[in-house]
Amino acid sequence: MITVSRKAHFNAAHRLYRKDWSFEKNDEIFGKCNNPNFHGHNYELIVSVTGEIDTETGYVIDMKVLKDIIKREVEDAFDHKNLNLEVPEFADLNPTAENIAVVIYNKMKSKLDSKLDLEITLYETPRNFVTYSGK
Ligand code: NI
Repeated sequence: MITVSRKAHFNAAHRLYRKDWSFEKNDEIFGKCNNPNFHGHNYELIVSVTGEIDTETGYVIDMKVLKDIIKREVEDAFDHKNLNLEVPEFADLNPTAENIAVVIYNKMKSKLDSKLDLEITLYETPRNFVTYSGK
């Protein structure tokens, strides 16, 4: 098995809060991230695909195919969007880095050959990042 990876990025705004909590409780748990006027991040993404090398092509996956899936499922869907207000997956899901990584994983996994394993690494800041591989 071998892993190939591609980097991507998107800018997006979000607010961390729960509709079913008071503003005070949200403020206590989420602090500045609960700003009702939202705030933005430059998200950096690493998409890693693990599988066997195809004996005919020498590829795990054609990187053009991977690039197009990232563009459709992540960049077109999230870039320059307000995640809370404009991305249906976060209508009732707090758009933390953890939840964004899981949403990206689920969207992309359904578009890949089932033989391939997927891992998503999402940087919310240069120092804070999360990794999800469906486990
Ligand atoms: Ni934030």
